[in-house]
Amino acid sequence: MNADAKKTALRMIPYGIYVLTADDGKGNVTAATVNWVTQTSFAPPLVAVAVKADSGTYQVVKAAGVFALNMLGKDHKGLAFTFFKPAAVADGTLSGQPYRKGDSGAPLLTNAPAAVECRVKQIVAEGDHHIVVAEVIEAHLTTPPAGRPDAAILEMKDLGENVFYGG
Ligand SMILES: Cc1cc2nc3c(=O)[nH]c(=O)nc-3n(C[C@H](O)[C@H](O)[C@H](O)COP(=O)(O)O)c2cc1C
Repeated sequence: MNADAKKTALRMIPYGIYVLTADDGKGNVTAATVNWVTQTSFAPPLVAVAVKADSGTYQVVKAAGVFALNMLGKDHKGLAFTFFKPAAVADGTLSGQPYRKGDSGAPLLTNAPAAVECRVKQIVAEGDHHIVVAEVIEAHLTTPPAGRPDAAILEMKDLGENVFYGG
């Protein structure tokens, strides 16, 4: 395989940017910026997220069995960069970001325009990221988008010329 062609072809897949959050109820709270996310079913509403298998986030998501996907808006670049690093809880914030617990126990970022709470149904353990298949059990719209919802999401291409995750 041509490694350059593989990298470039795979980087042609467009991505939104989200913050995955989880709390295992035993003091382990996590938040990670992720892009490998898609809906996979209408009924029940399912999503799939690829989570780095050796990350702290993966451990917390597995232990919690629930997580939230916090949607980022176009003006949330800073928030995306904050959660490229492991998150820390301090003064009731997640790495300085205010949050509250959803009904599932998953943290909901106050500044995210929308979020879904999800229950893990299955994990496909293949490769260096494992695919977490989860059912959407609650949804929140803090700031309803003015136009198309998918026009409001922060995208990988909004993060700068050199930011990629994929390839
Ligand atoms: C542009 C970008 C996109 C990312 N997308 C994902 C992703 O889809 N899944 C994932 O598990 N990690 C992704 N990461 C890595 C996580 O943001 C990072 O591993 C995590 O925040 C580190 O914290 P942790 O070790 O506590 O999990 C991405 C990183 C960058 C820079």
